[in-house]
Amino acid sequence: MNSSQKAYSPPKFKEDFSNKSLVSISQLDMYSLALLFKKTKELKNTSVLPQFLKGKIVTLLFYEPSSRTRASFDAAVKRLGGDTILVENPLQNSSAAKGETLEDTIRTFATYSDAIVLRHPEKGAAERAAKVSTVPIINAGDGIGEHPTQALLDLYTFGEHVEGKDTEEINGLIVGDLKNGRTVHSFLKGLTISWGKQNTPPKIYLLSPYELRLERWFVHELEREGLTITELTDISEIPYYCDFWYWTRVQKERFSDITEYQKVKHAFVLDKKVLDTYGNPDMIIMHPLPRVGEITEEIDEDPRAVYFRSQIQNGMYVRMTLLSLILG
Ligand code: NCD
Repeated sequence: MNSSQKAYSPPKFKEDFSNKSLVSISQLDMYSLALLFKKTKELKNTSVLPQFLKGKIVTLLFYEPSSRTRASFDAAVKRLGGDTILVENPLQNSSAAKGETLEDTIRTFATYSDAIVLRHPEKGAAERAAKVSTVPIINAGDGIGEHPTQALLDLYTFGEHVEGKDTEEINGLIVGDLKNGRTVHSFLKGLTISWGKQNTPPKIYLLSPYELRLERWFVHELEREGLTITELTDISEIPYYCDFWYWTRVQKERFSDITEYQKVKHAFVLDKKVLDTYGNPDMIIMHPLPRVGEITEEIDEDPRAVYFRSQIQNGMYVRMTLLSLILG
């Protein structure tokens, strides 16, 4: 039996991150999340950053385009004293162009580096990589699967917003391409981990074009894990009392027929009128970015819009902390 035939399931974290691959947010429990977020807060408040990653090399292996995720991992490693090997677009620029398998590419970079951050167009690619890798793999997006580190920063950002407030009941709205949006998948799973065991389950409102609804099995799984899910069909149904709005883009690259994309890409646009009509003063507006017209620029000025502010900044700190805990 070779290593790729061995049964593999990604390890549970249980407050111990050392040397573990992060494939899915579901590997973390609420205590591990709390530990990660406590340490992230400490790091955010540190004036001189500890050089936790001195001497460490992290490969950033990106088979799909990325701005924020790649750059924030790069900055996170370097700010903590480590270094990176950046491999962008391996299907053109590496031996993958000659037909090398993902597994062999991983085996190679695992010998050069202490961890590999992987973005790949296929769902399940991070798990395949973790199966053969001798160093931790961090999933930076596997097709329409998951994007666990984005969920970590989204959860941290929301946690910061409600810190010190009475969070007995959480109400949140998630809008856009719920079928293909991997950040949504990880964020929803993350909500079940961090808030799902509360006495009052979080109420999550989902709004998407019918053909981009969340998969049925996934809705049922989230309900089993403690979320109350309500699917909306129109902006006019948004309840005014949400604690957060999480807006996302329609994932153009997952469409085989571009005319189908054109039909739905701006089905739900957040503009000033929508915010003034359905928003409330205490909520925050998140977006994993990039946005492509589904939030108008006038919203950026609104203090409730955190996507170019704390949300993006938290990405670097959460990734710094995660890498320190895994490699530290
Ligand atoms: C997201 C992604 O790649 O899934 N971007 C990101 O990493 N922040 C969201 C998206 O592309 O829509």
